[in-house]
Amino acid sequence: MSLKIRSVPPEVSPPGRSSLVDNQGRPITYLRLAITDRCNLRCRYCRPESGVPFIPHAEILSLEELERVSSIFCALGVSKIRITGGEPFSRRGCLDFLRRLKRINGLKNLHITTNGVKTSRYLDDLQEIGVAGINLSLDTLDPRRFNTITRRDYLDGVLETLHGTLDRNIPLKVNSVILSDTNNDEIIRLATLARDYPISLRFIERMPFSGTEKSDNLNGADLYQRLHTIFPSLAENSSISPTTARVFSLPNYKGQLGIIQGYSRLFCKTCNKVRITPEGMLKTCLYDNGALDLKMLLRSDRNDLEIGEAITASIKNRFINGHEAERLSERFEEPSMSVIGG
Ligand code: GTP
Ligand code: 5AD
Ligand code: SF4
Repeated sequence: MSLKIRSVPPEVSPPGRSSLVDNQGRPITYLRLAITDRCNLRCRYCRPESGVPFIPHAEILSLEELERVSSIFCALGVSKIRITGGEPFSRRGCLDFLRRLKRINGLKNLHITTNGVKTSRYLDDLQEIGVAGINLSLDTLDPRRFNTITRRDYLDGVLETLHGTLDRNIPLKVNSVILSDTNNDEIIRLATLARDYPISLRFIERMPFSGTEKSDNLNGADLYQRLHTIFPSLAENSSISPTTARVFSLPNYKGQLGIIQGYSRLFCKTCNKVRITPEGMLKTCLYDNGALDLKMLLRSDRNDLEIGEAITASIKNRFINGHEAERLSERFEEPSMSVIGG
């Protein structure tokens, strides 16, 4: 199908600089697209065992709409897009979509966050497309525990993706959510991946979504303290670019360890990202309830310039940080991470 891209604002910002700057002076250069709510795992920190009702297909942005809105964002200055889900490869046409996104003017880096279950079969294509990196969710190397956490038995597929990504020299990060019953042996085992391979292994504070209890969340200081106790020679790398992770080097490690303090929300000051949910809601913070109904705009007769203006206006009205976003957003039910995209 041929795609009709309507007129976009003419100027594309220089790399790394965005004309999209929020009301706190933070440039917005990073867009996360959750292209589906579907997934072939049932991680217990993401969705309840009974599952969440799938969003009807007609309510989800089409791939054409996603491409159009991405090109509007890139024309405004976004240079990095991350595809998330659900599991992105659960969406039919994902690979072809990535290929088309890669051609968007101004887009420098296209990334993907995947659970890896079926991803190994796409790695040759991802390499050929020039995907800038894969973030792989993997919380344990123990098959039984994998089953307990994800309620599925697919560890082998994930490991195949991990090694296939390394074999092809595609930059790889591993995301490991720390749960209340993650013990130090598990942390040490996961860390061996960063010791033996050029992987950034990021331990993540669990965020309470989908009605999961808040009580067993580690706070950021605890997570850092715990890692420091296990690995006393952790040395923090300084970072000049905005990032969610604090990254650490260790002697004789090929890769690095990291921590993501998303629940503590320690990186809001430099937050450069916005997200679009599968239903086309623009979220200017992970913790807000949605700032702009892009689906409504994309399905109206507005042109790209007008949609770009609406986006810019939302970005000028961002919450100062994730704590304020949570406090001021009336929320009757915690959404599942699968409809936010992480
Ligand atoms: P990089 O682009 O490699 O830095 O990846 P990323 O950390 O931005 O994305 P990824 O999809 O790998 O997500 C890793 C973890 O960070 C997940 O638990 C996300 O929910 C969390 N995360 C990502 N962005 C944000 C954010 O803006 N706020 C909060 N609180 N958590 C975030
Ligand atoms: N808290 C923290 N991270 C989460 N993820 C999914 N659910 C949660 C949660 N409740 C992570 C996944 C994936 C990324 C997109 O978000 O592990 O790597
Ligand atoms: Fe699927 Fe990711 Fe949710 Fe796990 S965390 S069920 S892999 S969307």
